[in-house]
Amino acid sequence: MTLPAPNPVLVLLAHPDPGTSRVNRAMVEAVRGLDGITVHDLYAAYPDFHIDVREEQARCNAHRVLVFQHPFFWYSCPALLKLWMDEVLTYGWAYGVHAEGLRGKRLLSAVSTGGSAQAYTVEGYHGRTLESLLAPFDQAARLCGMTYLPPFPFHAARRAGDDAILRHAETYRAHLTALRDAEA
Ligand SMILES: Cc1cc2nc3c(=O)[nH]c(=O)nc-3n(C[C@H](O)[C@H](O)[C@H](O)COP(=O)(O)O)c2cc1C
Repeated sequence: MTLPAPNPVLVLLAHPDPGTSRVNRAMVEAVRGLDGITVHDLYAAYPDFHIDVREEQARCNAHRVLVFQHPFFWYSCPALLKLWMDEVLTYGWAYGVHAEGLRGKRLLSAVSTGGSAQAYTVEGYHGRTLESLLAPFDQAARLCGMTYLPPFPFHAARRAGDDAILRHAETYRAHLTALRDAEA
């Protein structure tokens, strides 16, 4: 008999163009079908952008670790994940005095960027670190009583070779299974 995972992981995948994806596709392939890890492809589920809020909240209730997996778009997430936050993270459920929907859970940003790691430094091309640009996600997690984990980035995505992408996908699988299996 297989025991249930201590910390079921919900991967909220937001990639509007999976046909052109190399990095996010490899990452998803590495974790899809694993016990205790649910991959929820937002663009596949909601091509019309009509999010089922109740169903999304119920899915969050059933998991202890949330992962926002997406390519970095204009220093943020693709539009459908932002809409998911706007609509699913409601007052009274996600935040507010008695809100318990996400309290005590953990949030991980797993992002791929076109820019290099060096570009995401204060001295670099973008002039800011990835962590500082992800502040809205960190702050949203805090408001909801969650712990925001250190981000899991993959940089210079377009220039990356297949080997590097495969290694990253394998590291991703190890990272998510470790979060799933960690003592509470
Ligand atoms: C609309 C759009 C906006 C983007 N904005 C950024 C950005 O702000 N910073 C960055 O480093 N890369 C940016 N990129 C590059 C993507 O992040 C990169 O192509 C993606 O992470 C590659 O992952 P994939 O192989 O899964 O598609 C952007 C790409 C698109 C299409």
